[in-house]
Amino acid sequence: MVMRLLALAALACAMAGKDAPRRMVPVTFTTGSLTFANSSGRNLILAPIGANSVHFISWLDDADSRTFDILPIYYTPQPPTPCPACIGAYHGQGPKFQLLHQVLRSQQWQAIHPRYDAVMLADDDIIMSTHTLNEAFRIFGTFNMTLAQPTLCRHPQVGVSHGVVLQNQSNFIRYTPFVEIMMPIMTMDVLNSVVGPTFEDAYTGWGLDFVWPFLLKYPRRGIGLIDAICAIHPKSQAGKVCPYGFTHPKAGDARGEFKYMIMKYGLTDDAVESYGVDTYPQDITWEFVTLEVARRPAVTLQQQVEEEPSSPQLSPLARVSAGPGSDWRATAFLLTGLLAGSAMLRRRLTRHRPQNPRILQPFMSAEGVKP
Ligand SMILES: *[C@@H]1O[C@H](CO)[C@@H](O)[C@H](O)[C@H]1NC(C)=O
Ligand SMILES: *[C@@H]1O[C@H](CO)[C@@H](O)[C@H](O)[C@H]1NC(C)=O
Ligand SMILES: *[C@@H]1O[C@H](CO)[C@@H](O)[C@H](O)[C@H]1NC(C)=O
Repeated sequence: MVMRLLALAALACAMAGKDAPRRMVPVTFTTGSLTFANSSGRNLILAPIGANSVHFISWLDDADSRTFDILPIYYTPQPPTPCPACIGAYHGQGPKFQLLHQVLRSQQWQAIHPRYDAVMLADDDIIMSTHTLNEAFRIFGTFNMTLAQPTLCRHPQVGVSHGVVLQNQSNFIRYTPFVEIMMPIMTMDVLNSVVGPTFEDAYTGWGLDFVWPFLLKYPRRGIGLIDAICAIHPKSQAGKVCPYGFTHPKAGDARGEFKYMIMKYGLTDDAVESYGVDTYPQDITWEFVTLEVARRPAVTLQQQVEEEPSSPQLSPLARVSAGPGSDWRATAFLLTGLLAGSAMLRRRLTRHRPQNPRILQPFMSAEGVKP
């Protein structure tokens, strides 16, 4: 696992070439003022956006039906012209999590965060359509999750470092104690109070995917993987700007940063096990919500939708939730359906113990964190 992680990072960096920016440019708000004129909902995507970003061709492939706004941090040499889906734009250069850290400390953030319930921190190379994103946010909200991610599509071109995040088409969602850092969705409260503060010392973000569920105390529901939809994280991209191109002043390389974060937040064996989980529990599934269960309310929704005019290209669930003011109805129907179908609910508390639960131990027992 560790070797695969390192190999993947090395591959990403090999692809990055030598021209990764190593000079930091402080983040500034570049669009004069915030504008919510084109705002499309209470979901926000906060994303560092580079010259090769796929956001425009994939996240906004059906921009008019989106239920989210975008807040970009352009790390291109020059800030590009603002996009209609954006409420404003930042510009700066530096390690991804330092860019995010600076945005959360900016003056504009105070006006931004109260307007949103959920936030996705997305890498700009993740391919996911407007519909995928709408569904991700809708399911996140409907299941009252606090931290989640779309699963990764099973495809030879998808780069995977943690197999657990690959899509399982039998399921709708899975409750797990693990969510990767490449496209986490979280409530605005969790971003402001738990996740955001961990950016202070983060460069590559290594280790944070273990730290966040720990700080959230490993709830048995609330954190998980959304199997109903999947995203593509391409294994290799020509000209990708390497996020590892900066040296962490306290921790050194990505590996050192992992150790640093694990120690900073006290993820000792005892602390983690005190919550009844294995150390570094990336292979545990607490509970499956199967497709069979999740489709049950969709039948009820279908009847409801038949009586209402709505946009034809969306799925029944999305059509109801996309209708103005009908979010509560979709949620109510889904919850009612879930309750009604609870006799059929096939919940399985399944613990897949990793082959070697201490597999990441070398990170901890090595000579320690550099000063
Ligand atoms: C809103 O979107 C339209 C096109 O979709 C664009 O022409 C306009 O500039 C946008 N308004 C703002 C304030 O961004
Ligand atoms: C949603 O989750 C929060 C904690 O994250 C909890 O306080 C609240 O009661 C939950 N609501 C429902 C309807 O489950
Ligand atoms: C997919 O999820 C089902 C439960 O719905 C589980 O039984 C099965 O083992 C999972 N498949 C894989 C490949 O993890």
